[in-house]
Amino acid sequence: SLTEYTVLPRALLAVDPTGTIAWIEREVDSCDVQKKINQRLSELKASFGEDVHVFVTELQDGEFILPGLVDTHTHAPQVPNMGSGQQYELLDWLENVTFPMESRFRDAEFAKMVYPDVVRRFIAFGTTTCCYYGTLHLESTKVLADTILKLGQRALVGKCNMDRNCPDYYREPSAGDSLKSTKELIAYIRSLNSDLIHPVLTPRFAISCTSDLLRGLGDMARSDETLAIQTHIAENKGEIAFTKDLFNECKSYADVYDSNDLLCERTILAHAVHLDDHELDLVKKTGAGISHCPTSNFNLRSGMAHIGEMLDRGIKVNGTFLENVDDGELTSLLQVGLGSDVSGGFSPSIVTAIQHASMCSKMVALQIAGRPSLSAKSSRFAGKQLPIATLLYLATLGGASLCCMENKIGSFTPGKSFDALIVSVRPETGNPAIWSMPGEFSGARNQTEEEAKKRLDALLEQFLFGGDDRNILKVFVQGKCIGGTLLRGSLKN
Ligand code: GUN
Ligand code: FE
Repeated sequence: SLTEYTVLPRALLAVDPTGTIAWIEREVDSCDVQKKINQRLSELKASFGEDVHVFVTELQDGEFILPGLVDTHTHAPQVPNMGSGQQYELLDWLENVTFPMESRFRDAEFAKMVYPDVVRRFIAFGTTTCCYYGTLHLESTKVLADTILKLGQRALVGKCNMDRNCPDYYREPSAGDSLKSTKELIAYIRSLNSDLIHPVLTPRFAISCTSDLLRGLGDMARSDETLAIQTHIAENKGEIAFTKDLFNECKSYADVYDSNDLLCERTILAHAVHLDDHELDLVKKTGAGISHCPTSNFNLRSGMAHIGEMLDRGIKVNGTFLENVDDGELTSLLQVGLGSDVSGGFSPSIVTAIQHASMCSKMVALQIAGRPSLSAKSSRFAGKQLPIATLLYLATLGGASLCCMENKIGSFTPGKSFDALIVSVRPETGNPAIWSMPGEFSGARNQTEEEAKKRLDALLEQFLFGGDDRNILKVFVQGKCIGGTLLRGSLKN
């Protein structure tokens, strides 16, 4: 939940042949593992036949298993630009860095060369579900979808809609053309007939869309209740001023999308750095969610999103809004997840986004400490640093909720898909940012349950603040291993 995670040092988790979590035994003594498996094997045999094979993986000290990470906002065609253009803010960065690279995807052969490496990088960093923006090109975005399907990641894939305020060399000729190729992409992705990959409407942002285009996309969204929507909102002050200028008939930036039927529970809004109170209320009322992209927001100097305040705003427990309610199954009605936003963000890693989300919350807390009306006393999250549990939630179950997949992924629960990471903080991973004492992982440990839990808490924190792709041994989507150092054979002993 938003405030708690559960550590199970002696758990046994079973995955069935379809990649679904069959059962979890929360506490099994190591000498009883085989007995417990034999006891529960009949359940699997009843469903999958007598010849079900059982493979057992046992984790070593310093290894643990986490739900797969969810990246709720990123741009596949911008990966080649990671680390370029630090000198720019958003609009100049789009013009000078982003659009020139994205336009190269007019050549589907270029996409075939680049996208496999792109998708592998997101997988290597533990992203099991990813919300991708492609370019405006239909063929190259089909290539992106094919690539993701082949590599086995779970994803939403959209082609950008952009029919104005973009350079001549990178703009769709009309709203009609943009809508037509969007429909073709949706039909194509659905024809792949995969449970893992789904289309998403992707109006790039208000500035790049005419009213006709937004209206057409809103009509599509309204008439198809399975279609997700993703866009950018209130990222940068210059962008907001330009948007208000273009849509002066609308009450606010959020209203540009709402008045075109683009805000609903299936909408993922990236950034939301500068939304005002009315806009946050509107977002919450429509059920749309927010993708927090702190790496990008720092890097493009966009600002710091007030995530704590958003979480407070959305929390409802047993029908009443939160006021000093003790922990429990706390979720937020105003859904928030994390996004890498490559290449506004310079890293494809959601672990990096966790680090920056933590620092962002600390800096926001410092900023508002002197403003009593916003003080931390009366809030659960605003004005405080986000705790580890909250950061982990945003990166997993929070992201899953944003994608309307909370019943399928985001946590370990029987019936959910097995999307997971095997993480190691042992020294042989070769990550010098994670310290261990010499010999720490060499002997057997005699720990009480309490000690084992405390130790796992500490190892998790070390991974979240010092970890990278070297610490991710295996990446599973729907029970299938699709990445990690052990699959690549790159773990050095
Ligand atoms: N707003 C419109 N397009 C983009 C993009 O590619 N990246 C970011 N960060 N913001 C945008
Ligand atoms: Fe973005």
